[in-house]
Amino acid sequence: MKAHDLSSYNLDEMPYINKGLEGIVAFSTTKSFIDGQKGDLIYSGYNIHTLAENATFEEVCFLLWYDRLPTKKELNELTSHLDKHRHLPEEVMTYIRTANPDAEPMAILRSAVSMLSSYTVEPTSDEMQNILNDAILMTAKIPSIIAAYDRVRNGKEILEPLPGESTAANFLYMLNGEKPGDAAIKTMDLCLILHAEHGMNASTFTTRTIASTMSDIYSAVTGAIGSLKGPLHGGANTAVMNMLLEMGKDGDVDVEAYIKDRLVKKEKVMGFGHRVYKTFDPRAHHLQKMSKKLSVETGHEKLYDWSMTILNTMKSEKNIDPNVDFFSATVYYSIGIQPDLYTAIFAMSRISGWTAHYMEQWANNRLVRPRALYIGEKNLDWTPIENR
Ligand code: CMC
Repeated sequence: MKAHDLSSYNLDEMPYINKGLEGIVAFSTTKSFIDGQKGDLIYSGYNIHTLAENATFEEVCFLLWYDRLPTKKELNELTSHLDKHRHLPEEVMTYIRTANPDAEPMAILRSAVSMLSSYTVEPTSDEMQNILNDAILMTAKIPSIIAAYDRVRNGKEILEPLPGESTAANFLYMLNGEKPGDAAIKTMDLCLILHAEHGMNASTFTTRTIASTMSDIYSAVTGAIGSLKGPLHGGANTAVMNMLLEMGKDGDVDVEAYIKDRLVKKEKVMGFGHRVYKTFDPRAHHLQKMSKKLSVETGHEKLYDWSMTILNTMKSEKNIDPNVDFFSATVYYSIGIQPDLYTAIFAMSRISGWTAHYMEQWANNRLVRPRALYIGEKNLDWTPIENR
């Protein structure tokens, strides 16, 4: 590899930055703060543990959009706005009904969200209010899209949402066709709270980059969904479950040997490691607790036991801790959700953080336009095509 020619760059003005933008502060935000050494996560001033114990997903959406908790009246207003928007336009339902039943749910979600840009809320003279209305519309419709696609591909009718129910309750109802119990609603709601916002992760960075061009919020969210889909980001939760299912396909397995073998082959163990956390991801504490409880209740103890062996092996072999995706996989599995839906459920929650960042960027915008370090040749002589 050639040494980089930096002579035409003023490195004081244009620092050459780390691969993967590691450690670079690209934006300021009031939406979340992560202390990767201590394992702290704060959404707009509130510690994630406080929110996990007290909030609902709808309160977290309001918090991220407004940087404060809603009053009872404001929360009721938001809930009724969400209610009003959960129904899908007929054209989107037709797309879902005619989509390839073997497609990845994230691909369907990405296209359906892009379609929603033709069905926006009637604009007012208040530009920021219009953006917020579109954020509410997408937050309401994303669960309906995911549930509708899952039902159609399983040969079932699309269900209309239930008025007056929360996002978590409606999603489980539209997915399974029966009203969920309180425990299932609480589990789903907590998962939505834990995935809502997380600093300058790849999909949020995508959102802000698209927002910085002053493109519309649907374009930003469509791009963010594409970014979240990758297995190094939100796609890891599906990959964790696939790994656990693959491990168990021939009956009992030596989990420790399986993980060590992956590590020897330099393969990643999905659901572990993080660019920012150098300790246990605070979200994983809650998900681990839920995973343990649910796996006992639903007869999937073996999956939890395997997860703990993986956790201990990763700690002793690599000193790497689990991230949010590791235990969320077994939580969703225990409540009967198909593995390929997990990343879409992540999007159903992260829509709140993405749209909050979109508005934050819009309110104080400057085009994102970094430079690249050119490492190719210069001033080559032209070779006619017949001589190449
Ligand atoms: N399995 C095995 N080794 C790992 C893992 C892992 N999951 N994660 C990091 N490492 C090792 C890596 O091999 C490298 O070791 P060495 O220095 O010996 O070559 C070292 O740790 C540093 O890893 P890296 O890949 O350079 O770290 P990064 O900051 O670029 O990547 C990451 C962070 C999340 C992409 C990575 O940890 C990973 O690929 N994890 C698995 C995928 C995953 O779970 N992603 C979800 C991330 S959290 C939720 C979200 O944001 O969506």
